Amino acid sequence: VARSDFPPNFVFGVATSAYQVEGARREGGRGDSIWDVFTETKGNVLDGSNGDVAVDQYHHYKEDVDLMHNLGFGAYRFSISWSRIFPDGLGTKINEEGVAYYNRLIDALLEKGMKPYVTLYHWDLPYHLHESFGGWLNEKIVGYFAIYAETCFAKFGDRVKHWITINEPLQTAVNGYGAGIFAPGRKERSSVEPYLAAHFQILAHAAAVDVYKKKFKAKQGGQVGLALDCEWAEAFTDKMQDKIAAERRLDFQLGWYLDPIYYGDYPAVMRERLGDQLPKFTEKDKELMRDSLDFVGLNHYTTRYIAHVHDSPEEQYFYKVQQMERIAKCSEGNAIGEKGASEWLYIVPWGIRKALIHISQRYNNPPIYVTENGMDDEDNVETPTHELLDDKKRIGYFRGYLAAVAQSIRDGADVQGYFAWSFIDNFEWAQGYTKRFGLVYVDYKNGLSRYPKSSAIWFSQFLKGNKENDNK
Ligand code: GCO
Repeated sequence: VARSDFPPNFVFGVATSAYQVEGARREGGRGDSIWDVFTETKGNVLDGSNGDVAVDQYHHYKEDVDLMHNLGFGAYRFSISWSRIFPDGLGTKINEEGVAYYNRLIDALLEKGMKPYVTLYHWDLPYHLHESFGGWLNEKIVGYFAIYAETCFAKFGDRVKHWITINEPLQTAVNGYGAGIFAPGRKERSSVEPYLAAHFQILAHAAAVDVYKKKFKAKQGGQVGLALDCEWAEAFTDKMQDKIAAERRLDFQLGWYLDPIYYGDYPAVMRERLGDQLPKFTEKDKELMRDSLDFVGLNHYTTRYIAHVHDSPEEQYFYKVQQMERIAKCSEGNAIGEKGASEWLYIVPWGIRKALIHISQRYNNPPIYVTENGMDDEDNVETPTHELLDDKKRIGYFRGYLAAVAQSIRDGADVQGYFAWSFIDNFEWAQGYTKRFGLVYVDYKNGLSRYPKSSAIWFSQFLKGNKENDNK
């Protein structure tokens, strides 16, 4: 794969999120988020760690910007921590120190000629909003999110031209409110909670975009998208039932969020299976959602084979909420290709092409950004540091996935940019620091020093247009 396989104006960037990299939990007037509180409970994070310090980008942002720029990246996707802007989330008292931090970061990027791609919400809900009225379970959240979004557009929109409202609403719904393995740790499998959390995230997205269109778009001329995670679902056999199961899985990932926005309602299969558990959109909601996406952000890591499973009566009970997990389970043992370090991550480059083509065909060829793509290494005592630094497998991952993205463009998908996850090793949610997704290695034991891994060097050669020498 070569840089010249992509259009000249194609954007190449790296991505992170606030809670995973920023640290400085108690500095700069920041309030607590649901992740601060979730990580305090023993057992919630594999190594008992948290994001209090993380990789301390709050203090290292300049060094980090220099590094990504030197590697040749043209854009940085980061997220704003809501509770740095409004410590209690309510939108009444703005924390100017928080605003100042993001101004510094944005200006540092612009100085280097890099473009900021800014996510407004990457899972770190101000804790007060959760505690006082249930956070994403309550309709009120829509209004508070719109105020927060408006504030960010007003403060940063003169320089930020690409916004992502919400990152992976699916994960928040399913793992935050269904399985309980992510903050806020609700385990309500048989209830409506995952569906409510998804519903209000969609409406919050739409409300934020509405504010942008009415008050900022004409003057600032930016674009607003959403970042959705989708594993490609490949039918395990050619049997009709398996094909339908694979389609169903896509509907329960992407369709859940994109169908309402593009077609005004949840996918039919979700309505059929969930009935009254699925909230309904009013005419006003539909109006608000219409045309609320300038681009689709795709977070993509892996692919699974999907086969149909018969429901046992007991399974039937959980079926509605656990749809995705159960289908995923049945694919175990049917692993495709090599694995990354995480249980769920199989290396399947062609899956990203299929996902991109699926989006472009089903949703009328929208502009798409790959907002995340990457793989992890396991960091345990046995892993020698030189292996983590000389990450040949990750080079193979990027080489394969980038070639598949280029192919999808030739096949007609309107892909405009690609962001590697992640710029730097960081706090990997419930896995803590046991997984490393970075192009840049962090020495957690020695002052958080940063070292570009072999994959970072490979990427920078690729971006310079240097011909691939095919040594693996
Ligand atoms: C997301 C992702 C990232 C993860 C990455 C690796 O929500 O965008 O979960 O934050 O770190 O996907 O698992």
